[in-house]
Formats: sequence, structure tokens, C-alpha cells
Amino acid sequence: MGCKNGDRLLNDLRSRFSRVLARPETYLANHSLGRPLDQMSHDVQEGLDAWVRGMDSAWQLWMAEFERFERNILALTGMSGAVVHKNSVGQGLRAVLNALPTPVRVVTSSSEFDSVDFILREYERRSLVAVDWVEPSGAESGIPKFVAEDFLDRIVPGVGLVIISLVIFTTGQVVPGVKEIIKKAHEVGAKVFLDSYHAAGVFTWGYPDADFVAGGSYKYLRGGPGACWLVVHPRNLNMQTLDTGWFAKARTFDFLKEDQRAEGGKGWWESTPSPLPLFQARSGLEFTLEVGVAEIRRLTLERLRALREGLAPLGGFDPQNEAEWGGFCLLPSAESVDIVAALKEQGINVDARQGIVRFGPDLLTTPEEIEKAVAACQSLSLART
Ligand SMILES: Cc1ncc(COP(=O)(O)O)c(C=O)c1O
Repeated sequence: MGCKNGDRLLNDLRSRFSRVLARPETYLANHSLGRPLDQMSHDVQEGLDAWVRGMDSAWQLWMAEFERFERNILALTGMSGAVVHKNSVGQGLRAVLNALPTPVRVVTSSSEFDSVDFILREYERRSLVAVDWVEPSGAESGIPKFVAEDFLDRIVPGVGLVIISLVIFTTGQVVPGVKEIIKKAHEVGAKVFLDSYHAAGVFTWGYPDADFVAGGSYKYLRGGPGACWLVVHPRNLNMQTLDTGWFAKARTFDFLKEDQRAEGGKGWWESTPSPLPLFQARSGLEFTLEVGVAEIRRLTLERLRALREGLAPLGGFDPQNEAEWGGFCLLPSAESVDIVAALKEQGINVDARQGIVRFGPDLLTTPEEIEKAVAACQSLSLART
């Protein structure tokens, strides 16, 4: 970012976000709701215009958008197999759970996002799953940390599904040993479901052997709600989930009562699909692929370093190895909720989870904004935990 060409490039990128950047605010909640490109509204308009101008012929354009989404998600995740559009990660998880013989023995962490956590608890209450909740055994400067063995030791014969986030939503820890976890799971006959929500678009990973990878566009991919996905590994395409509907039939428009399930990814579809979220997600996804996740990571780390340096004297978490942490940095505090409110009053948008204030810069974040955020934190008298 220091060099002139880099500055020019960043200014060029920033010009594609003129509408959202006009907001009078220092936005450091990019790890939560990502900022949209100006192009986003035009893309949604394109999807809507097809309807108004073409009525039912709009489906041609809409179906082409599903194919485009699939290509882009495969490029992003480095997976082969099929991409199934879902409105949420939770919907993707239920489709997988409902494809396995019950009760399913599940190994997962105690740090999964509430959506996944809540669904598992409901399934557990109904005896559809038996969950082995894995706690982090390590810590760094008071921040809980998983080690690979936390999971590996629990993956034993009889386990049917391992569910893990690639990056933990509260701490930002990049879960270690995912390759070994997948290998061990497969050795005991279990499937692996990866929640990539805090990795997609900000952190590069490569687990082409995972059985299922779910993620969404709401955060780093700048695509808003509703454009989530479930990538199904080719070896799992013939599994049949209960979460089905007429778009999963082999001959959807023949309206046969006795129709078969479609082969391949289409067999994982459900009822009438909703194309507009994909138009909404297109520009952010293609922007991410254009800039490249490795470059986004490099620019994010530059900003995280500056933030961590400024926040460390105030009790901010400054990790020994930045590669072990994802796209946001942490200020643990007993007053996290008050800090978020106080910063908001000063025009700085951050959030907090479980006693930790999260600061999520993105490549649009300027050095001045980071200085402003650090100075605002310095002006608060922070209670340390
Ligand atoms: C790790 C993780 N998974 C999933 C989600 C969202 O889940 P859902 O799409 O089911 O609402 C979030 C947050 O929004 C998250 O942080």
C-alpha cells in the first residue's frame, strides 16, 4: 500500500464503491456485513428487468445466473462437484444432516456460529443427532485456541459427521490441522462439513477432499444476505437428502408424480429457487476473484497489523503468528458492548461477540481510519478482562 502504484490501484478499487464510501462513518465491521460495489444495484436491476420485460422468459437469464454462481464458487473454494444455492449456511447444514441415517453421531466444536449450533441442539433434542462438543484445549494471551488433536482424538469409528468452521467466528482462529481432520474422518467412515463463512473471500484454503463446504456472501464477499451455498463433493452427489422439492426431480417440467431424483448436483436442489440473491452477490464475488483472495489477505493483514499495534497497549490481542488468525482483530473487554456503543457515537462501526470487540478492516480501509479508531479507543477508559 506504501508505493505510488499501490495507492493508485487502491484508489481505482475504491472508486467502485463510491456509494457506500459516501457514508460518513469509519466502517470496521467488514467481517460482519461486507460493503457492496456500486455495480451491485445494477446487477439486481438486471435480474428484475428480465422479469418485468420478459415475464416467464426471465427464467433463461435467471438459470444462467445459477451456472455463473456455481462457476464462481468453484473457483473460490477450489472444489469440484456441485454448488447448490442455499439461503443460509444453516439450510445447507440441514440438507446434509437430512441426507444421513439417523441418529447421526456428530463431532463439532463448541465455537460454531449460533445458526449451526442452534440447529444441532434442536436435532439433538429430537434424538436425530448425538453431538460430541469439542472445547478448545489451548489459549494464547487469554484467547481460547483449538489444536488439531482436540478434534482428531474425538473422531472415532461410529462418528458420521464432523462439522468445523475454517475460521472461528468469535476469536478469528484459523482451525489447525483441517487436512488431517478430513483424513481421519474418512478413515473412520465419517463425512466432513466445513463452514467457510469467515474464510470465504478473505483467507485462502484448499480442502478439495472435504465432503461439503458451506459459506455465504454476507461478509467478505460483499453480496448481502441470501446468497449462500453448499458445495457437494462428487462422491456425495448420489446421496439423497430429505430437503427436496420439484427442482430436484429428473424431469421437473414433465410434472410426473413418479419422477426420479435428478442425477448430479440438481438432485440436491429443492423447490422453486430464488435467483435475485445471486444477482445481488455477483459483483462482490467477481470482485474477490478479480483482486484475488491472496492479495485481499495481504492487504487485510497490513491493516490488521496497524490496528493490532495501536490496540495492544489497550489490551488488544496481538498474536504471535498472524497466519493463525483470520480477517479481524480483537479487543477483549468486560465492557465490550459499551465500547461498541461508545465507538458508534464517534462514527466508528465495530461489533462484539462474547466479551470480545471485533475490528474488521477491509482493503477499502485507510490508514487515517485506523488511526481514528485507535485514538477513539485510547480516549475510552477500557476495562480489561
Ligand atoms: C461461521 C459462521 N457460519 C454461519 C454464519 C451464518 O449462518 P446462517 O447463514 O445459517 O445464518 C455466520 C454468521 O453470520 C458465521 O459467522
